[in-house]
Amino acid sequence: MTGWRVPIDRLVWADPRRRARKLLQFAEVEAQGARDLFRAAEMTDDPLLRRRLFAHARDEVRHAALFRARGLALRRMLADPGPEHGLGDGLIPGERGFDRLEVERESIAALLAFIHLSERAASQAFAAYGAVLDHDPETRAVIDRIARDEEGHMRYSRAELTRLAPDARRALWVARLRRFWRAYLRLALILADMISRLILTLLYFLLLPPFAWVAKRAARKEAAGWRDCPEHDRAEGRAGGGQY
Ligand SMILES: [Fe+2]
Ligand SMILES: [Fe+2]
Repeated sequence: MTGWRVPIDRLVWADPRRRARKLLQFAEVEAQGARDLFRAAEMTDDPLLRRRLFAHARDEVRHAALFRARGLALRRMLADPGPEHGLGDGLIPGERGFDRLEVERESIAALLAFIHLSERAASQAFAAYGAVLDHDPETRAVIDRIARDEEGHMRYSRAELTRLAPDARRALWVARLRRFWRAYLRLALILADMISRLILTLLYFLLLPPFAWVAKRAARKEAAGWRDCPEHDRAEGRAGGGQY
């Protein structure tokens, strides 16, 4: 992860509520990644790759449990855990899982290239998060331990890609472009969410006050309490099909 992100990461991880929330979100993604890896392992014919994918999937199950346990421990310490999701959560990614990759439809080369890039990004992200968590050594220990595993995943997937795919470099480039496209879509969604919140807030403050003012003025003109109903109003009520 590049140096320009350090102040952002420091700011983001300083908030204990967001820290707990992010760890629980990471746990969900790791668990989803594990399910996809188990599926990929079941479909693979190569015995060595199948063994490695199973081992990888078991690691991701363990990561999910570690993140979840630490996230819940942090949450228990908070008087107010806050909302489940917060603005800008997408700006601090963890492992991306398979990012809705359809395992059944992908070639082995595409799958391994995707796993390699995804694990490399995760190991870099977790290493960067660990570096700004001096104030929370327990969370730091969890993240550092997981970052080391992700590095191992990054290495084995590259080695398997070289072993099984004749054109590993091409597969990596295609995977890079797909990741870039997904990153663009994620950013576009975050921006769209922020812009729609801003527009709705502006509408609330600009449009509601005039209506409130008109309603209050109309209410002031109305006399308080019961009032006598003239005879012709009652007749109209009957003609209009009143209840009595
Ligand atoms: Fe992981
Ligand atoms: Fe991983």
